Amino acid sequence: MAKLVINTWEKKSKISKEIYGQFSEHIGRGIYEGIFVKEDSPIPNVNGMRCDVVGALQKIKVPVLRWPGGCFADYYHWRDGVGPREKRKKIVNANWGGTVEDNSFGTHEFMELCRQIGCEPYICGNVGSGTVEEMSDWVEYLTFDGESPMAKLRAENGHPAPWKVRYWGVGNENWGCGGNMTPVQYGQEYRRYRTFCRNYGQNRLFCIAGGADVADYQWTRGVMETAAYAKSRPNMDALSLHYYTQPNTWEHKKRATEFELPDYYRGFARAFRMEELIVRHCEIMSQYDPEHKIGLAVDEWGAWYEVERGTNPAFLYQQGTMRDALLAAVQLDIFNRHSDRVVMANLAQMVNVIHSLILTEGSQMVLTPTYHVFELYREHQDAQLLGSWIEAGEIGDGESRIPGLSHTVSEKDGQYTLTVSNLSPVESVELDCYLLGAAPETYQGRILQADMVGHNTFENPDQVRIHAFDGIGKTASGMKFCLPPCSVVQIRFSQTAAFIPVGNVPDGCKA
Ligand code: AHR
Repeated sequence: MAKLVINTWEKKSKISKEIYGQFSEHIGRGIYEGIFVKEDSPIPNVNGMRCDVVGALQKIKVPVLRWPGGCFADYYHWRDGVGPREKRKKIVNANWGGTVEDNSFGTHEFMELCRQIGCEPYICGNVGSGTVEEMSDWVEYLTFDGESPMAKLRAENGHPAPWKVRYWGVGNENWGCGGNMTPVQYGQEYRRYRTFCRNYGQNRLFCIAGGADVADYQWTRGVMETAAYAKSRPNMDALSLHYYTQPNTWEHKKRATEFELPDYYRGFARAFRMEELIVRHCEIMSQYDPEHKIGLAVDEWGAWYEVERGTNPAFLYQQGTMRDALLAAVQLDIFNRHSDRVVMANLAQMVNVIHSLILTEGSQMVLTPTYHVFELYREHQDAQLLGSWIEAGEIGDGESRIPGLSHTVSEKDGQYTLTVSNLSPVESVELDCYLLGAAPETYQGRILQADMVGHNTFENPDQVRIHAFDGIGKTASGMKFCLPPCSVVQIRFSQTAAFIPVGNVPDGCKA
């Protein structure tokens, strides 16, 4: 029997809703086909955006969307993507398969997509092959309300009013595809580019510096030392971190649905590494920013496998199984636990690319098991992380030992949400939950469960989906229930009005 103690009195950090952020890049069918089909498509759309996809994204309350890359960002010249579509330049997408990029999805289309989803835009500007002037003009084009060359151009292109843009990335992976820079070189570039990203009117930019890959602590140290502060004031709002889970090696990747138990456990052991990466990068950041004014944005994460058979290797199209849903739960739990420092995270990538929420084929759409995890975790957005303690033992094989359970518990507006995953592909786990400071009358449960390779297809789109979970038993100290193998359970409850926490009441008041 595993044990979980939830201390509802122990309020920890607020879980920024942006931890549930998404990322979409100009890769393969990530944007074209997957999201944007143009206005004259037979696929139902509003202003070119697929209604089915937008509807699904609204349901999970996507808070923020990062665009246009990724590596594409440091290759992208925003002026190519504004103005009459028929006049937009066709370019080669040299990072992702050398396909023709017709620039029909540009700034106006991205802002329209965010409007329809109801999320904040997070735009990543071009440092690697762009100029300071180009980035500065883009900010002015998007956000300046008044008379200026860029505001005039925006109005001519059909949008007289400025948009609100908060999240602004200053380059992407500038240690690699974003210019092969050294940390100090990037830090110096960052300082220059950042200076000309201005706050116009009421708009306030939240600037995110391009951070490290995995455990490249030298990068974090060099960038923080060079660029974190300017004139004794914080000069960035967050630094990013990219970490993809790869159970095998990059040269010998396996497909999402073709794996054995050792791959499964190894994949999770590597996913759990996210915790160490966050802690160590944050320790270094603290040396240069002791007051923690600068957050960490894990703006690319996910499980990266071999592409599906018969698809273009550069399009990075992969299936998503229950293993990936559990992996997403593990990563989100880590971000939630570190929500005092992690201000944002972005799953790579939202539709049809790498670890997706949604797959499309022509007019069809399927939701991956990972999508359903984001649905179950929606209630943690902007909620207060609560103190908790779990005793659950380890699972795995000789090579990879991992915790058997992963969980988050939070509170928002008097409603408590527990999400807990059983990572074992074979064993059920009985969980006894002790609640400190709450004695709910009722519990509502939902569950996502499948075997580890379970997934949804266009022929069978509802194979893996959320069901009601009614196996929760009330106990004197809380609740208990059985978690089947490979499952994510969400339990919601609220405090009863009549509950008096005896331990907290002065003696004289006790009945
Ligand atoms: O998400 C795919 C690619 O992975 C991104 O373009 C890049 O930033 C990262 O290396």
